[in-house]
Amino acid sequence: SSLHRSMPSKILVTRPLPPAGDIVLQRASQAGQVELITRAEDSTAPREWVLEQLRKGDVDGVVCMLGDKIDEEVLEAAGPSLKVISTMSAGFDHVDTAALKARGIALGTTPDALTDATADVGAMLVLMASRRAGEGIRAVADGKWPSMPWAPLLLCGHALQNSTVGILGFGKIGQLTLKRLLGFGIGRALYTTSKPGQALSPSKDYFNLLSSSSSPGGIPIEPAQSLSHLAAESDFLIITCALTPSTTNLINADFLAQMKPTAYIINTARGPVVDSLALASAVKEGKLAGAGLDVVTGEPNITADHPLVKEHRITLLPHIGSATLETRGEMAREAAVNVLAGLGLGEQWVNEVKL
Ligand code: DGY
Repeated sequence: SSLHRSMPSKILVTRPLPPAGDIVLQRASQAGQVELITRAEDSTAPREWVLEQLRKGDVDGVVCMLGDKIDEEVLEAAGPSLKVISTMSAGFDHVDTAALKARGIALGTTPDALTDATADVGAMLVLMASRRAGEGIRAVADGKWPSMPWAPLLLCGHALQNSTVGILGFGKIGQLTLKRLLGFGIGRALYTTSKPGQALSPSKDYFNLLSSSSSPGGIPIEPAQSLSHLAAESDFLIITCALTPSTTNLINADFLAQMKPTAYIINTARGPVVDSLALASAVKEGKLAGAGLDVVTGEPNITADHPLVKEHRITLLPHIGSATLETRGEMAREAAVNVLAGLGLGEQWVNEVKL
């Protein structure tokens, strides 16, 4: 009935959104299209609070973050009114997609907004790991510089020039990370992809490698013959794949044992792709030169006694790949647009995940 149509949709927003996203929802609220359930505190929503709000009933859409686990219990708490989950992230391993699919709930993500920002951090970690920047910063901050004057081999790492860069997961972030590294004179690139022949956008921003044999930057860029080939050949192994059952723990002791002792691991994807303990011991034992990580299994509950933190040749950042104000603003805007799109409130999806 028309009465029903004029009822505002209820949207639960698990924490305050950056202004560019907030304004989209506020406008819909002022127009009487939506009623917002929000929290004043800028922190990860306590799960109990989320469940409680959902159990009150009639919630149509949820805007959530990486730290909000969206599982069967959450969907059950929401009941049949729930139509859309919109996460302010590219990754959606925190969302039980099978459970959403079974209930006919749509999922929105923000996959394009963070490609450049994350590729920047990938390139930064390549440099930080290979030039031992984290180790140097730590030494200076700890007051150790006076006892470590310039020396021929002080804090030396391995050069990027002529290196082989391996990319595990050659999607948009992997391609743009590689594009940045071409400027440093790397020798060649090898990659793996779960989507051969697909998804490499013909846009000028990305390489269109699978449909042509072109070599941007004049270097060979080829698919790896196998994971072992990728492990054995890479001087820098850059992880930019999605976290799925088949990529979980892919970089384990077995894989690391096939790498060169002069090689580096870079991870801007998801922590559980890498076996943390195996990586920490490979670096400790000198079987690997170092690592640059933006993500780690168990984050954010990582303290100074964590094996990866204790290893000074490993630079570990607290998941800041997409952390520019511009990118986070755009992610928030897209998350707001997606939830309105999912509720049929006059917006087009920025990205709906095919479940
Ligand atoms: C994502 O969006 O998946 C990143 O990990 C955080 O921006």
